[in-house]
Amino acid sequence: MKIVIGNDHVAVEMKNHIKNYLESKGYDIINIGTDSNERTDYPIYGKKAADMVASGECDCGILICGTGVGISLAANKVKGIRAVVCSEPYSAKLAKQHNNANIVAFGARVIGPATAEMIVDEFLNAEFEGGRHQKRIDMISAIETGQM
Ligand code: RB5
Repeated sequence: MKIVIGNDHVAVEMKNHIKNYLESKGYDIINIGTDSNERTDYPIYGKKAADMVASGECDCGILICGTGVGISLAANKVKGIRAVVCSEPYSAKLAKQHNNANIVAFGARVIGPATAEMIVDEFLNAEFEGGRHQKRIDMISAIETGQM
């Protein structure tokens, strides 16, 4: 599985922790985030990661900023992206099972590395259930294309 990971300047340490954690489990991680603590702007990384997921270049994405909010808002502006902010693992699992989320985001200033590990584990191990949930995903797509 190819995963893009992106972050702004407040989340470099957390990004490195999660990148190393997932690489040790055998995942292919593409780092498009900043590796510097110099101030930058989260929309750059939200957009870049979202493009890589929307195009199929990567299977899914992980985005980290201070809260996870700004970077996920930016990612959600890209067509086909369903980015969710999670501060606990249950929502990460359900976001994949019910909402077919293709990007999970969290805040480096909100949660610690152990919770972040649990969130990415649940997100990556869960599978979309389809069925009644597909209709709702299709409705979200219809909003995106102005058909609803
Ligand atoms: C940067 O200071 C901070 O605003 C950013 O990391 C993020 O929390 C925005 O949502």
